[in-house]
Amino acid sequence: MEEIKRRLVALSYAVLVLLAGAASQAAAGGPIKTVVIVVMENRSFDHMLGWMKRLNPEIDGVDGSEWNPTSTTDPSATRVYFKDGAQYVDPDPGHSFEAIREQVFGSNVTSASPPPMNGFVQQAASMSSKMPEAVMNGFPSEMVAVYESLVSEFAVFDRWFAAVPASTQPNRMYVHSATSHGATSNDATQLALGYPQRTIFENIDDAGLSFGIYYQNIPAVLFYRNLRKLKYAAKFHPYDHAFKDHAAGGTLPNYAVIEQRYMDTKDQPATDDHPSHDVYRGQMFIKEIYETLRAAPQWNETLLVITYDEHGGFYDHVPTPVRGVPNPDGILGPSPSKFNFDRLGVRVPTIMVSPWIEKGTVVHGPNGSPTPTSEYEHSSITATMKKIFNLPSPYLTKRDAWAGTFEGIIGRTEPRTDCPVQLPTPVKIRKTEANEEAMLSEFQQELVQLASVLNGDHRTSDFQNVIKKMNVGHGSAYVESAVKRFLEAGMAAERLDSVMPCLLELDLEAEDNSTSGGSDKEYCG
Ligand SMILES: *[C@@H]1O[C@H](CO)[C@@H](O)[C@H](O)[C@H]1NC(C)=O
Ligand SMILES: *[C@@H]1O[C@H](CO)[C@@H](O)[C@H](O)[C@H]1NC(C)=O
Ligand SMILES: *[C@@H]1O[C@H](CO)[C@@H](O)[C@H](O)[C@H]1NC(C)=O
Ligand SMILES: *[C@@H]1O[C@H](CO)[C@@H](O)[C@H](O)[C@H]1NC(C)=O
Repeated sequence: MEEIKRRLVALSYAVLVLLAGAASQAAAGGPIKTVVIVVMENRSFDHMLGWMKRLNPEIDGVDGSEWNPTSTTDPSATRVYFKDGAQYVDPDPGHSFEAIREQVFGSNVTSASPPPMNGFVQQAASMSSKMPEAVMNGFPSEMVAVYESLVSEFAVFDRWFAAVPASTQPNRMYVHSATSHGATSNDATQLALGYPQRTIFENIDDAGLSFGIYYQNIPAVLFYRNLRKLKYAAKFHPYDHAFKDHAAGGTLPNYAVIEQRYMDTKDQPATDDHPSHDVYRGQMFIKEIYETLRAAPQWNETLLVITYDEHGGFYDHVPTPVRGVPNPDGILGPSPSKFNFDRLGVRVPTIMVSPWIEKGTVVHGPNGSPTPTSEYEHSSITATMKKIFNLPSPYLTKRDAWAGTFEGIIGRTEPRTDCPVQLPTPVKIRKTEANEEAMLSEFQQELVQLASVLNGDHRTSDFQNVIKKMNVGHGSAYVESAVKRFLEAGMAAERLDSVMPCLLELDLEAEDNSTSGGSDKEYCG
């Protein structure tokens, strides 16, 4: 292990590219024709990558001097220091809007700038006595060997934030639409109806470019209502068969989204890194994606983007930006906070991979571009797609017009030929099998809720109670069968487009006439 580390340090120093201004040198007409997006679950930068500062001091990570007090109001409180003993974590640390406010500001008063990042331990202690230790730990780099290799070979972003200091679904929505349409929490009812905002998928489709979703269990992008349109049914592919086939055949679309398994079963353990799922599985999933792309005929025109939806309650030492962040669309969050979407969430890991990226690249902030306060956050993805693909549509919101763009990492004049063909096999972390008897987490319940809309079961008055009683094994089987039926019906309907042009929307229309606007009608003849 020591020898590997020494080698990695040498590699990391080999090249160091700091993105100055990240101008659009590789914009439209550049070499990238396929962008692959993977959004993992609920881990902070320091928790996953902070200790990689040992491999490359240029990375803004940790050295063990970081600490949080057990109480932010007691000057003599015990200090809990950040360690490198991250292990399998169960249960899940707090990552609601209120929990994050306490983690970042140490209290519910949000005026400090920069925020002190001192309430992680206090907030965790309010959940369980073991939690403070869990949130103040990161993985030593050899435990996340796939990332160790990608960080030393390609690019790590050490100043990329969750778009909103809130939970999973609001952040996932920012990734493809640069807004959560006012959501600061996972609102099961609205998620089932679908969120109405325009997405990057439509801008890509309108420009005559292609997109595809490679899903397992269920595609969470169906939380965007517009993706439930009939004309998009053929964009959804089961990951297990289609991803490798398309990659090998050179038919990956311009914008490919790969979704992981969110349900944890014995035969098919979850791969999303969400606590209590095993990070080893997430590492194996990333390894498989990388090796598939590396072997593909499209490798020389591919950019792989790996990020995390939010920090999952785990400590990070970088103050979250609280000044100059624009509200995307004028919508405020729900009462009582009526959040104005004017500060970002906690820093998350982001890694980018392409043969056009110099080895050992570390990207800090966007250096005052396009505005003095601009930062990298999830809206940077839609902002950069506009540049890379020269999309004629305007920015989706004020937020992606503001976010830093990253086309500048494609800095070489020719692709590298020394990128590893295989990545290391990481160590297993969880010692036990998946617990299929476990009750569904909040996130998994939302996925079942989504599946119930696709299936029509959400109309059954007691379906909410059915969901609450489902375990992971049942939930997993339920969503998979619902998605299969939905997409099969969609494909069949697409062939019969003129006969029943609006099959999928009809189901939803009856219930929701507030948010859909006129946009569905254009496809509903
Ligand atoms: C903040 O916390 C204090 C003390 O617990 C409480 O009295 C106050 O109502 C809280 N304010 C908000 C905005 O939640
Ligand atoms: C991640 O966030 C989602 C949304 O807040 C939450 O439902 C889920 O439980 C969190 N992840 C884990 C691992 O718990
Ligand atoms: C990628 O480009 C390199 C350098 O031009 C070339 O050697 C290699 O064969 C190309 N790979 C593919 C899959 O086209
Ligand atoms: C649908 O719209 C009508 C008329 O605008 C309104 O009265 C009704 O409450 C709406 N229904 C729902 C479920 O929002």
